[in-house]
Amino acid sequence: MRVWIAGFFVAASGMAQSSLPAGPGREALTKVCSGCHSPESVVGMAKTREDWAALVGDMANQGAQGSDEEFDRIIDYLAANFPAKVNVNTAGPQLLENALGLSEKEAGALVAYREQNGKFKSMDDLAKVPGVDVKKIEARKDRIEY
Ligand code: HEC
Repeated sequence: MRVWIAGFFVAASGMAQSSLPAGPGREALTKVCSGCHSPESVVGMAKTREDWAALVGDMANQGAQGSDEEFDRIIDYLAANFPAKVNVNTAGPQLLENALGLSEKEAGALVAYREQNGKFKSMDDLAKVPGVDVKKIEARKDRIEY
């Protein structure tokens, strides 16, 4: 029984690490946003900075407790990691991974391709990248900027 419980916690903390990307603000998010629901409710969402600020303000009204600095850091983190739009020519690999639902390998392939071939201009360019499942990118095409 004890072994099973320990295993459960290891598995649970492993999951939290994989779905909330590392970065400044993750700690504040985990601290301030875990009281009522999982802080991972934000995963998979896509919002502008203003909309994130409004949501965080809403959560403060619901009773989320933190310092102004913590709230600012959370908004910065959310705007950087779960943006409404992602520029495929400037985004780093981790942002491409989160925002487009790609694997680490696929995100790396996009970065390597644009370094060698220059900027992507359209979905057709993205479809040329070897090793990337273009269906995943097409599914998120409303979120892509060039
Ligand atoms: C005091 C309790 C509480 C805390 C702390 C809290 N929330 Fe919430 N959260 C709620 C409630 C209640 C809902 C559902 C009602 C709603 O959407 O307003 C919710 C819903 C959400 C949703 C889903 C909204 C949607 O449109 O589906 C997200 C995302 C979210 N919270 C993010 C956060 C973030 C980020 C923080 C930290 C800044 C946070 N929450 C802290 C109570 C809380």
